[in-house]
Amino acid sequence: MYSFKTWPNKAGRLLLVAVTLLSFGEVKAQSPRTTLNFDKGWRFHLGDVKNVESTSFNDQQWRTLDLPHDWSIEGTFSKENKATPEGGALPGGLGFYRKTFTVPATDKNKLIYIDFDGVYLKSDVWVNGHHLGFRPNGYISFRYELTPYLKFGGTNVIVVKVDNTVQPNSRWYSGSGIYRNVWLVKTNKIAVNHWGTYVTTPKVSAAAAEVLLSTKVRLKMSSSSNVTVSTTIFDAKGKAVSTITNNDINLSDSISTVNQTLTVKNPVLWSVDQPYLYNAVTKITQGKTLLDTYATTVGIRSFVFDADKGFILNGKPLKILGVCDHHDLGSLGSAVNTRALERQLQILKEMGCNGIRTSHNPPAPELLDLCDKMGFIVMDEAFDCWEKGKVDYDYHLYFKQWHKRDLEDQILRDRNHPSVFIWSIGNEIPQQTDTAALRIAPELARIVHSLDVSRPITTANDRPNKNNQIIKSGALDLVGYNYHHQIYEKFHDDFPGMKFIGTETTSALETRGYYEMPSDSIRRWPIGDSFKHPGGLGNVVSAYDNVSAPWGSLHEETWKLIKKNDYLSGMYIWTGFDYLGEPTPYSWPSRSSYFGIIDLAGFPKDVYYMYQSEWTDKTVLHIFPHWNWQPGKVVDVWAYYNHADEVELFLNGKSLGIKKKQGEDLHVMWRIPFEPGTLKAVSRLNGKVVLTRTINTAGKAAKIELTADRSNIKADGKDLSFVTVKILDKDGNVVPDAENRVNFKINGQGFIASVDNGDPVSHDPFKASYRKAFHGLALAIIQAKEKGGVVNLTAESEGLQGASVAIKVK
Ligand code: GAL
Repeated sequence: MYSFKTWPNKAGRLLLVAVTLLSFGEVKAQSPRTTLNFDKGWRFHLGDVKNVESTSFNDQQWRTLDLPHDWSIEGTFSKENKATPEGGALPGGLGFYRKTFTVPATDKNKLIYIDFDGVYLKSDVWVNGHHLGFRPNGYISFRYELTPYLKFGGTNVIVVKVDNTVQPNSRWYSGSGIYRNVWLVKTNKIAVNHWGTYVTTPKVSAAAAEVLLSTKVRLKMSSSSNVTVSTTIFDAKGKAVSTITNNDINLSDSISTVNQTLTVKNPVLWSVDQPYLYNAVTKITQGKTLLDTYATTVGIRSFVFDADKGFILNGKPLKILGVCDHHDLGSLGSAVNTRALERQLQILKEMGCNGIRTSHNPPAPELLDLCDKMGFIVMDEAFDCWEKGKVDYDYHLYFKQWHKRDLEDQILRDRNHPSVFIWSIGNEIPQQTDTAALRIAPELARIVHSLDVSRPITTANDRPNKNNQIIKSGALDLVGYNYHHQIYEKFHDDFPGMKFIGTETTSALETRGYYEMPSDSIRRWPIGDSFKHPGGLGNVVSAYDNVSAPWGSLHEETWKLIKKNDYLSGMYIWTGFDYLGEPTPYSWPSRSSYFGIIDLAGFPKDVYYMYQSEWTDKTVLHIFPHWNWQPGKVVDVWAYYNHADEVELFLNGKSLGIKKKQGEDLHVMWRIPFEPGTLKAVSRLNGKVVLTRTINTAGKAAKIELTADRSNIKADGKDLSFVTVKILDKDGNVVPDAENRVNFKINGQGFIASVDNGDPVSHDPFKASYRKAFHGLALAIIQAKEKGGVVNLTAESEGLQGASVAIKVK
């Protein structure tokens, strides 16, 4: 079955009808607007071919696949790949997609569009041999109208050329292909235009909220027409809470704007803890005929950034505790998957994170839908460069010609999301120090403000000083600092009266599960043999929070500053998750980053629990490292804790002393000689035990344990279950240095979408049925087929007792 797009939103979906087969001809009931997922049944070919756009081209030998698709992630890591290790060391190239479909004759009075959420890179699209357009920006969503070129009652073909040949064009892993969803939209000749509504909530109080809705109605007829436009706001339970009707709207132009003001009494406000969503449903009618129904998500909230008090949401100060993330989904590559995005956000939410920066480009629409629903403060970013590039073939080649169109499309698409609070018009723009910024920054700000005046504009500046020409231009509402925590406290001296946001912070580095002593020797750039992988393969960084890029800080350093100064409205840490590419500070053989608080497979590094102890109400006691060392080795044991005033550590029952955080401390540490056995930590408040944690010295690897994050998934061909693989000793302790190769077998209604272990150095393929463990852990991602039933995953490894897990697919 086709699935329907969740964007614009849920109510829109309810209005849509079930559709079967490749054709969208079999619409079972007439609905004024259908939004059909168009991901299934494409043909794909990698490499140049001539005449592909012609309707007579024979693609029967091409591979059949479903979108979203990223061909790079299927490739082999090599430093010879033009993307370079910075771009993830996977292949790019030229790819073609074709899809053949039928359109019923009964649709000939409809307008038909194709919507692409994102194609990387440089896409050309044809329908029935007619060129529809070219988009060079790999992160932008775009629409083409198909109506004039379609054969109603006949067969049609869409062809997409994707050109990611010329590289490097990115400083991180981009992926290649139609890596986001594609939709087929069908409307009447009078309908709400593409991204045609704009909702704001300018007046919000406990008693009432004013909701302004501006709707662009498209008329595609030669004569003018009169219509009625009515909008009803529904609460989260589907109850109508406000309605307005405008009669006799005369549509004489191709686009007419209808402005409506609605009042919602006693509104439930959107917040990060209670992300309450309303739904505004706009109907266009003519007499008794319903011409269109269009749904817009509404979150009612008020906010300001204050120069002294920081960020204030619904009247209350709220620190933005955010992370930056790139768009890849680890071993799944850049092919968007809603469940994979949701899992990332759930892991971040558990840590107490409340903000996402979409570095350094517009995200998949599904990410913003999830942020709306889950409560994140999003900084939605446009560009990583303007007219001057950072790598040879990046967007600077297209900036002059395309920035206006791309930025407008981003704002139009994203401005109704209640989760979006900040527009970033650029990251570390090379022209910060160039007077060209005095021209470009205000122009970009004008473009944004022409479409949205309800959110501040920032840029992420790595040169946050008085000579920064972007700041000087006066275009910014919020001054964004990348790094430079050493000068946060003189922000108001440098920029009196201005408002602050830590657009990018930290850039600390860790390899999950790897520890070096002493833990308190701070390194700003871990170069040297001592950082080589014990197995000799590559590069590792100690997971104590004691290593950072030279321009960055340790996690604790920046957080201590943000925490104690109200005017620092918050921060976006580089990064939430490890990502493919940019293996700073190493290069080959590393092919992914070390910056994440969480590794590429989604396993938290230790510092995750520092944030959790600071940012959540959960009671936390986390001790590390593992307890497998050479006898006599001096080992530093750290504890992150909260809701307690002391922690006592015991080794084999003997106390190693009580530690208490002093002043600004965020952890405590014991330095002790290793002896095998059991390390036990007890946190106490006023002498009463709060939590106890133990780590045992693990014996030899004996067995595998599999744990599925969800044991019921949807039979929709897209849903995922993330299965954690642990290598355990006979007593159930994780073996911290286990690297056993695990072989998977799968049967039933699912398949292995990818495997990983979080090792930034591994060159094993992600699309595989085996994975070595890395520090005792690995991951298998199971994807549902479209039939209900059960999927069984079995894991085996030489010399170990195997395991299996069953997941229901419904
Ligand atoms: C910043 C940049 C990010 C990333 C990070 C690594 O300067 O904005 O994209 O490269 O450094 O520390």
